[in-house]
Amino acid sequence: MSERVIRPARRLRGTIAVPGDKSISHRAAMLNALAEGEAAVHNFLPGEDCLSTLRVLRALGVEATLDEGGDTPVLRIRGRGLRGLREAADVLDCGNSGTTMRLMSGVLAGQYFLSVLTGDASLRSRPMARVLEPLHRMGAQVGSREGGLAPLVIRGGHLRGIRYRLPVASAQVKSCVLLAGLFAEGETVVEEPEATRDHTERMLDAMGARIGREGPAVRLTPGQPLQPLSMRVPNDLSAAAFWMVAAAVHPDAELRLTGVGINPTRTGIIDALRAMGADLATEEERVVGGEPVADIVVRSSRLQGTTVEGEMVARLIDEAPVLAVAAAFAHGATEIRDARDLRVKESDRIATTASQLRALGAAVTEHDDGMTIDGGDGLRGGDVESYGDHRLAMALAIAGLAGSGDVRLRGAEAVAVSYPGFWADLEKLTE
Ligand code: S3P
Repeated sequence: MSERVIRPARRLRGTIAVPGDKSISHRAAMLNALAEGEAAVHNFLPGEDCLSTLRVLRALGVEATLDEGGDTPVLRIRGRGLRGLREAADVLDCGNSGTTMRLMSGVLAGQYFLSVLTGDASLRSRPMARVLEPLHRMGAQVGSREGGLAPLVIRGGHLRGIRYRLPVASAQVKSCVLLAGLFAEGETVVEEPEATRDHTERMLDAMGARIGREGPAVRLTPGQPLQPLSMRVPNDLSAAAFWMVAAAVHPDAELRLTGVGINPTRTGIIDALRAMGADLATEEERVVGGEPVADIVVRSSRLQGTTVEGEMVARLIDEAPVLAVAAAFAHGATEIRDARDLRVKESDRIATTASQLRALGAAVTEHDDGMTIDGGDGLRGGDVESYGDHRLAMALAIAGLAGSGDVRLRGAEAVAVSYPGFWADLEKLTE
């Protein structure tokens, strides 16, 4: 386990391009693997999670090469068509990646062969019944360890379309059911309690699938082959969020984050920081690869506490740890509610964020479905631990940059799951 000491930064200045979006990179690889022909995906995220997706696809017979020689990484991938995957010779290892396991479960439910999916200790403790249940209803034979835990066993085959209301707002479950729907007889309709990220729907539409939204539901009519989609992946708002918070809470900061995806299903962190009074501007809005992007400029700000609950939660679900860091520097209380699913992320993010921020002097109260942070005094130095959770590691690093003392972080290597260049960017912005 690697340890890193993060020292308070005197000032934060600069312009950076954070890496490609993790959710979009996973989908670009999986959907192009099912398409009829070759595609080039520019700015593919070479993080460990997306490499897990590539490893799984290759084990299923897909040819994919990642060229990291140029300015941005390029994935070249040859699709095998919807039914062209072949049975893997071994267990499929999804590493730390929930997106790989849940979305690939939908793809594999439509293949006439046996697949076994596993992952690291964190992934093997996360709930998978939420995808197995709808896949079972569609006609796949599925199995798991006790309690719906991986390893998962899927014998795919003939599927029927279903109408499914998601019991939890989850883009991974929605995507799993839609992907299985590509192979089913009849339409599949997925209704979500709150709008979650819609990258799967946008990409399927761009590749020629018959898919459309009807209020809170998405309807997919199978039968169309997928056309390969060459594209450029926007930079990841969930990675940019660390620098947005760093600049907002640091007393001497101005950062420009270029080409960041601002899909409205993801921008809860922008709305929350603005509600807290952050000096945050989006400039040069444009569309890249079917997704809206912008440059985001953030300057030192005086933040106030806020409340995040209801539909907002799904739009910033991955930003809760770094939002809690912002809250520790804001005047007054910040309350995060309706976010019970944080307990089953890469770590129990309510418990780990609360305990690690307390170790840096924050006043945090845990709730079953969120936390309250009584902010105003900022953070001091201390010893903290990532629990192998990439987003907690980066949130704690930002706490170190903006706080009043050195933060000694154990498990710093976890950042490579979604942001392999994080420490290099930190050096660059704090020079
Ligand atoms: C993701 C969806 C979210 C998010 C995860 C990526 C996706 O998970 O937390 O990091 O790519 O669809 P849930 O769908 O489980 O909320």
